[in-house]
Amino acid sequence: MSDFNFKFIGPAPELETGNLNWSEYTFRQDNFGVHKETLTVPLLWNENNNEYPPKIIRHKNYEAFKGYLDQLEFFLGDGHIQTAILIKLPAGKSVSPHVDSAPFFRYFHRIHIPIVTNPQCLFTVGDETIHMKKGEMWEIDNDNKVHSVDNGGAEDRVHLLIDFYSLKLRVSTANRFLVFDTFDKSTKIVHEGSGVYYGSVEEWTVSRPDVNGKDCLLSIRTNQTVPIPSGFTHDFCRFGDKLYITDCANGGVVVLSYPEMKLLKHLIPFTARDHVNTLMCEEEGKLWCLLHSLGKSKLVQISAETGEWLQVLTDVGDQSHGIVRYGEEENFLVLSSGTSELLLLCGGASPPKVLWKDSSKTYLKGLCVSSSRDVAYFGIAPLTERTDRRSLDLQCEIAAFDLRTNTLLWRHKIATNGLLNSIVCA
Ligand SMILES: [Fe+2]
Repeated sequence: MSDFNFKFIGPAPELETGNLNWSEYTFRQDNFGVHKETLTVPLLWNENNNEYPPKIIRHKNYEAFKGYLDQLEFFLGDGHIQTAILIKLPAGKSVSPHVDSAPFFRYFHRIHIPIVTNPQCLFTVGDETIHMKKGEMWEIDNDNKVHSVDNGGAEDRVHLLIDFYSLKLRVSTANRFLVFDTFDKSTKIVHEGSGVYYGSVEEWTVSRPDVNGKDCLLSIRTNQTVPIPSGFTHDFCRFGDKLYITDCANGGVVVLSYPEMKLLKHLIPFTARDHVNTLMCEEEGKLWCLLHSLGKSKLVQISAETGEWLQVLTDVGDQSHGIVRYGEEENFLVLSSGTSELLLLCGGASPPKVLWKDSSKTYLKGLCVSSSRDVAYFGIAPLTERTDRRSLDLQCEIAAFDLRTNTLLWRHKIATNGLLNSIVCA
């Protein structure tokens, strides 16, 4: 259950609809009794709301509104518009109280933008009734709360209705596994009580449990665990039918078959002091490994077959975490945790470019990039003693950094209840 009925999002860009044919498309009002007094012009609209993920279906009026919807989508942030329909509620008519119960609605933010309205047009959600003014943009909780509309005025009302899918981030921390919504900045606790969480590949995360102390992969869907022969496990990643897991305690990399989870190899290409903490695989048989090194960090490409070192980039920050390839072939983004910097490594050229540096001394950890928007998301932790990393009082922030304009978009504190370890775009 959400904690709101209506949420004001901000001003809406102005929209002129021109002349529309309101009698051509009748599916919505014909099939949903509560909407029988409404008229509809679909732009993006899938009649089947039982499939997931739903297809985006463009209707013939979409092209005329594409420019407006693109502008709106940009304003709303990382994600996409799934549904866009114009709805007319004629003067004196109403939408009777109902809840939109299909599972589809749980995944989207439902947004209303009044195009033509009058002060006697009243929207009710739960126990709250408001008039949404022209030029405003509101989110409503339509899938938990009973809602209805009355147009008591003498003029027809037209709203643009939007279902917005926002990018979600999977955040693992020293005590929790969370999902963070980049649109409304809300967090959902998906798992806790299994020690330290690290990384996310589909339904799996690494768990370093408190009780028997043996590292494992944990399914956040079924709670199934798969023991892994690694210690002080940090990151893991998947390429094709293999999972690669850091064995930080021994300077190793564990290779499992996926989805069978059978042990294929246990390479030891590093030492414990190298502190291998992030892995990235984009090419069969080759693996990029970030060595934190408790100081000056290194990025090493190894053979995933033999562990042989193939390439080494030095000067990749201090106590670094997180690797994402960005832009040109040999460019990587890395968090230099020890110097509170987001770095861009341009091939072997050193020194790396500092894209952002926190003005106060903080510990950056957990990095991913949304490729559709070129936004880097990373974690910011207050500086603590190593021993305080699991403190339930330790709350970290998520930051969003626009890589096209090199500007910090926002930073937002969330209830990590411990050090933020990793962030993955869901
Ligand atoms: Fe509804």
